[in-house]
Amino acid sequence: MTHQTLPEQGRPQDDILAELKGFGRDDPAYKDSRLWSLVYHLDEEHDDFTAAAYRQYSSANGLNPGAFKSLKRMESEIISMVAGLLKGGPDTCGVVTAGGTESCLMAVKTYRDMARKTRRVRRPNMILPSTAHVAWFKAAEYFGVKPRLLPLTKDLNTDITRLARMINRNTVMVLGSAPEYPHGTIDPIAKMGEIAQSKAVPLHVDACVGAFILPFMEMNGAQLPDWDFRVPGVTSISADLHKYGYAAKGASSILYRDLETLKHQMFVYQDWPGGVFASPALLGTRPGGAYAAAWAVLQKLGTAGYRDLARRTIQAVDALKSGINDIEGLQILGDPQGPLLAYGSTDKAVNIFAVADQLETKGWSINRIQKPDGIHAMVTANHREVVPDYLSDLAQAVQTVRENPDLARSGGAATYGMMAHVPLRGMVRTKVLDIFAQMYSAGGGGLDLSKPAAPNLSERLMGKYVHWRASRR
Ligand SMILES: Cc1ncc(COP(=O)(O)O)c(C=O)c1O
Repeated sequence: MTHQTLPEQGRPQDDILAELKGFGRDDPAYKDSRLWSLVYHLDEEHDDFTAAAYRQYSSANGLNPGAFKSLKRMESEIISMVAGLLKGGPDTCGVVTAGGTESCLMAVKTYRDMARKTRRVRRPNMILPSTAHVAWFKAAEYFGVKPRLLPLTKDLNTDITRLARMINRNTVMVLGSAPEYPHGTIDPIAKMGEIAQSKAVPLHVDACVGAFILPFMEMNGAQLPDWDFRVPGVTSISADLHKYGYAAKGASSILYRDLETLKHQMFVYQDWPGGVFASPALLGTRPGGAYAAAWAVLQKLGTAGYRDLARRTIQAVDALKSGINDIEGLQILGDPQGPLLAYGSTDKAVNIFAVADQLETKGWSINRIQKPDGIHAMVTANHREVVPDYLSDLAQAVQTVRENPDLARSGGAATYGMMAHVPLRGMVRTKVLDIFAQMYSAGGGGLDLSKPAAPNLSERLMGKYVHWRASRR
């Protein structure tokens, strides 16, 4: 049954809850660790606990920190705990946000406004590694800050040899990631910090992924390069609670070395008829439930809990890395040091997107990356138990793809191959925009890239290009 109109009369709560549960029937099986992105799941008990904490403050609003002192207290304590993890100093300060993207957007707004005010920069640019999370490109578009990209070395590390020369008087910030999303590599933050500091430009570290696992890996004995506030040039860090912090969705944080910088993030409007208004980040209403759940999870897991999760996660990562490298025709991309990794094909007979399709037929939910093509995995502690099954399915998938070259030209492999390789990138953008917008049209549905809709002329041309490319392999 679909519900296109508001029910005339309210329905019994039990029916509604049962129906909601049913909606999830076709969702990825994340509780069985079949999904390698999007969700950081521990167990039902943890979900119940975060839900109970969330529930206590689900109506509370952090918009006015003077009203809900409870939420301001939670926010301050969360920021202090995160500052400790990130080796902040006595002046480290910050704000809880609704997610990694909000934290990244805020950094760009802050540094653009700081450069405007203190240096009269009118045509701002920022220096990003090509592997910066897409949130940074979104921020660039939203806030009118031109991204200038650092290329990758052939080993897929950020090439900073030209960084000093790329910084000019309009540069408002430099970004490094710990780790970056596509390959899980930690950027050379110490060196970037030196350069940024010598040019008096802020350096933000995107640790949305790393903040709640890299410090614990280090405590467990891993040798990692410095990437946090220990690096003198680092001026701010984004740190998600709803990723490896295992908080309920809707919680991240952004921390600054000092309050003077954070002030540029804040919005104040003193002449609004609704009253004098001040807000620390993007949202108006700020969800109290998410703060409460995040605060509660930090208390529940503590250092020992996070260390244990980090240990199990890295065991899973190590097992995956060696298992993947043992499969002929596959190799790990770059040098992932944390919980993310990606792998690609070294053999023309093994189309990696066709391998992804095969894994999906075996019930895994797979993320594809491009430039170079690959399969991505955000590994969590629970994945440790499924690694042997995954590797055995992967070996079989590779064999099937080798034996059936047509698989590279059909299903998701054809669509993803086309999207990754068609040289007319504007066409890809337009097509994706069309498909995506359709999903938001009245009554719009889901997205299934393995079953493309009837193609128009430009798509047929793209299709021909893909076939031509595949036939040259
Ligand atoms: C490195 C990095 N930064 C930022 C983000 C954006 O986080 P969110 O999805 O919470 O907005 C992600 C998400 O995966 C990420 O990997």
